[in-house]
Amino acid sequence: ATQPPRLSVIGTGYLGATHAAAMAALGFQVVGFDTDPTKVAALSLGKVPFYEPGLDELLVEQVESGRLRFTSDVADAVASSDVHFVCVGTPQQATSHAANLSHVEAAVRAVAENLVGDALIVGKSTVPVGTASRLRGLLAETAPAGVRAELVWNPEFLREGKAVQDTLHPDRVVVGGASARAEELLRTVYAQPVAEGAPFISCDLPTAELVKVSANAFLATKISFINAIAGVCEAAGADVTVLADALGHDVRIGRQFLDAGLGFGGGCLPKDIRALMHRAGELGAHHASRLLQQVDEINMGQRERVIAMATEACGGSVLNRRIGVLGAAFKPDTDDVRDSPALNVAAALHLRGAQVTVFDPQASDTARRTFPTLGYAASAEDAVQGTDVVLLLTEWPELVALDAGRLAALTATARVIDARGKLDAQAWRAAGWEFTGLGRIAA
Ligand code: UDX
Repeated sequence: ATQPPRLSVIGTGYLGATHAAAMAALGFQVVGFDTDPTKVAALSLGKVPFYEPGLDELLVEQVESGRLRFTSDVADAVASSDVHFVCVGTPQQATSHAANLSHVEAAVRAVAENLVGDALIVGKSTVPVGTASRLRGLLAETAPAGVRAELVWNPEFLREGKAVQDTLHPDRVVVGGASARAEELLRTVYAQPVAEGAPFISCDLPTAELVKVSANAFLATKISFINAIAGVCEAAGADVTVLADALGHDVRIGRQFLDAGLGFGGGCLPKDIRALMHRAGELGAHHASRLLQQVDEINMGQRERVIAMATEACGGSVLNRRIGVLGAAFKPDTDDVRDSPALNVAAALHLRGAQVTVFDPQASDTARRTFPTLGYAASAEDAVQGTDVVLLLTEWPELVALDAGRLAALTATARVIDARGKLDAQAWRAAGWEFTGLGRIAA
């Protein structure tokens, strides 16, 4: 039998660290490369530099098994592997909506320059359509003569908070631009998820690149759709939470991603829809561009809406008012505050003169690093103590389950705004709260 391919993972951030650990768990020899030596040192000890349920355990297990190691020497990583997964970030550019591709280009160049034999380069980062074919040009220019190097695209769909599960049990495996040999190699790498039922979809390069951004654009559109309808609900005296449940029973629609509220944030959805908006515009696909522009505007408008509701609850101005904020992460089960709607609202209220105290079960440290001037409490109780209004901004289960009666006694006025549609309005009202929710009937 032929030897199983040895794998390298270039870039060990969120995506790369999870992919490396998961591939080792599937039985492959894996080396993770990162330019940041402190990241490499932490990962080598089995320490994950961010909060992701289950990843610590998996990493320790795989490092101890001897299948997984990390290095900051790219030549070492490349020379010890046959398949190289590019997992570096594609952040939004500082001055436009376009994606910054410098890390992806640097990664492909670094792999290409260090190739010592035939190799397969597999792009996993989220990139604007057309990038992979340009990277092929870069690879052809940079790879040593006599080496057969192929580049394909294999987008990653993992969610934060469910990264391990999503990587080990993906809904589908999409591979773009693969030759017969490349496809065979990747079918070997993904044999287990495919055996469990994940479809293996082989397509051209641009389709593979677009599947990823379209998936994110669709999810974002679904959220902005329900948030737009929430506005109609409020004006008409309807309840969007009940409406979403009723809509969700239609199998063509489905209940997921129909939670109205503060909207989407994080390191992916916002930047990916903006990058697609930009790229679609460049390609002359103006309908897609305009649609996504609306999706983004509706989403950002939700933050303004919650700021306005908080201001109203404080009697027209938040100046010197005490506001308790429950949740800072962009969603539950993560300590990620990148483009977090919750932290964004908290910071805006602080800038308008409110005394804001934030509690988050996991994200206080990352939030403090981003916004050191906000107040941070060690518990939900401490955060709401003596406040004029309480905002639920991230629906952590432990925040949703808080005892409304016990909390009411701690605040000055027992006013709450549920910006995630997750609190039991009846129970909170019964406990004495003046309760307001987005897209829900006022008390
Ligand atoms: C997303 C995609 O789901 C994933 O497939 C892709 O690879 C990366 O981007 P992630 O950023 O981890 O994953 O978060 P996700 O769970 O999709 O949530 C995105 C945002 O939408 C969060 O801010 C969440 O609070 C918000 N959201 C989600 C809603 O506002 N309403 C909903 O009904 C669902």
